[in-house]
Amino acid sequence: MKKTEEIVIQALKSAARNAQMKHDVQQSTELYPLLWKAANRYVTGEERKDAIPIAREFIAKDYQISLEFIGENTTDLMECRKAKDEYLQLIEGMGALAIRQTVSLDLSHIGLSVNTELAYKHLIELAKKAYQFRITLMISMEESSKTSDILDIYKKIANQYSNVGITLQVHLYRTEKDLQQLIQYPGKIRLVKGAFQEPIDVAQKRSEALNERYLHYVEQLINANHPISIATHDEVLIQEMEQRQYFNHPNVEIEMLYGIQPDLICQLKEKGYRCKIYLTYGTDWYLYLCHRLAEYPENLYLAVADIINPSTLTRSENY
Ligand code: FDA
Repeated sequence: MKKTEEIVIQALKSAARNAQMKHDVQQSTELYPLLWKAANRYVTGEERKDAIPIAREFIAKDYQISLEFIGENTTDLMECRKAKDEYLQLIEGMGALAIRQTVSLDLSHIGLSVNTELAYKHLIELAKKAYQFRITLMISMEESSKTSDILDIYKKIANQYSNVGITLQVHLYRTEKDLQQLIQYPGKIRLVKGAFQEPIDVAQKRSEALNERYLHYVEQLINANHPISIATHDEVLIQEMEQRQYFNHPNVEIEMLYGIQPDLICQLKEKGYRCKIYLTYGTDWYLYLCHRLAEYPENLYLAVADIINPSTLTRSENY
């Protein structure tokens, strides 16, 4: 990787963690609309009513979908409740339209940044509602400082609600042990490399060794016949897994974020593999945009193009 690229990645990842910057962007009547044009490549819209029709377009094309009401690190009790209520309405709305798919969420959006009890209480309420409509609820994984709390909450609910799954970050060294425990629970495990900037003694950088680790974990889950979501855009990794015939396994799905590698997931779907698109909506897209740009700095060029000419944006027609 070039030195300048490394500097840009670090800057974007630390911007992602900067609460003041996030607040300033969201409050600014100039910056918000400008950057929204770049975020809109990865975020379907600011409201649920924008996301649902796009979800239905993907379903009509034989994709599965995940839907997230975007947000995290909510420290205000009322805001956590509002987020939980929005999720309830999302689940009910999906149920009414017979969209028996996946809802994804960050626990820090619905209470974890207030206390673990609140996050647990809200999660149970959502899991119950999702169960009623045969919807899967996937818990996202956040910074390593929150991993233990998130996993504890998941373990408390997992046996009661098998429709709740968990995301694990392969880049964290601790995941090796966590996986051994989580494989004992029925919920789906989504494997991601990890988006957050972490200390070097906590997480491994992008590398061949990290890809090897990813393959190793997928293999363990497949051997255990455990439901798994392979959530990556990495072509090299995907090619290797295809050669190993991982995608033929009935418990395996491939999941990618909306707006990233549409051609690749389209090709995989055409081959008959189970493919899922991760769709987001909401106004709290700041961290999400920073991560998408940091993961692949060439996306900065696209961000500039999207700001100047939003008609170049990804739409479901590209899939
Ligand atoms: P990696 O970053 O190593 O990139 C490999 C190659 O993939 C690149 O060279 C490029 O070709 C392509 N690529 C990757 N990112 C791209 C981008 N943004 N634009 C264009 N091309 C790109 N993280 C987390 O910490 N907690 C979570 O809960 C989740 N949840 C989640 C759900 C789903 C469905 C996905 C797909 C991803 C996440 N992530 C996540 C993000 C994840 O941790 C990771 O940061 C990204 O998937 C990027 O890593 P890759 O595995 O794609 O490969």
